[in-house]
Order: sequence, then structure tokens, then C-alpha cells
Amino acid sequence: MIGRLNHVAIAVPDLAAAAALYADTLGARVSAEQILPEHGVRLVFVDLPNARIELMEPFGEGSPITAFLQKNPRGGIHHLCYEVADIGDAAAKLVAGGARILGDGKPRIGAHGNPVLFLHPADFLGTLVELEEVPQWES
Ligand code: CO
Repeated sequence: MIGRLNHVAIAVPDLAAAAALYADTLGARVSAEQILPEHGVRLVFVDLPNARIELMEPFGEGSPITAFLQKNPRGGIHHLCYEVADIGDAAAKLVAGGARILGDGKPRIGAHGNPVLFLHPADFLGTLVELEEVPQWES
């Protein structure tokens, strides 16, 4: 069902410092900052040859990563994102198997303009898993 690893998201307390760490210390290509108000984050993408790293800082009131950063004040891996060809189909199979989808269970538009949803970490080895429908994905 799942395809490529699309990105690993790291929650950070200071986005500018995190972007500089990846650009300068690790020599990676880092995008311009982007704000996603509906997701409560400000982020940059680190482009690697085989996947992306998303560095995310809380944006606005009630950001979903604020509590995570309170528990992990220096930052930490927040979620993994796997690509799927059909998110509705993937969700139906997962729910039928007993997995829980966060929120209202409906896909939302994510950082790359594609439908995404999040699976409950308790059902996936303590890891928050995002699924992203990527049109060009091939099985
Ligand atoms: Co993500």
C-alpha cells in the first residue's frame, strides 16, 4: 500500500537556526520559508536526492506541534510521511483493519498541495504516520 518515503518532519524551536544548521553545517539545499496557517506551522523543506526533511516551527495559536515541543524543547522527529496512490482507498483499508485516523478522518490538503491524513501513533509503533496521495506514484 505505501510507496516511497516522502518526508521526515522535525519539529524545531527556532526555524531560522534549524535551516542554517542543514544549509551550512550539513550542506543541504534548503527552501525558502513557507507558512501554512491551516496546519499551524511555518516550515522549510530540505531537499535530499531521495526524500525531503521538513523543519517545522509552530505558527499561531493552538499549533499542533506546540505540545510536542514542550515535551521536546530542543526539537525532535515529529512524523514520517509515506506516499500512497489513492488516499481514500488506503484510508478505507486501514480503518477496516482497526487503525485510527486522526481528526475527522477525512484527508486534508497538505504542505505540497496533495491530500494527506495522519494515523494514530499508538497504532503504528509509537510513530505518527502521515499518508500523502502523490499522483505520479507508481506501485
Ligand atoms: Co508532513
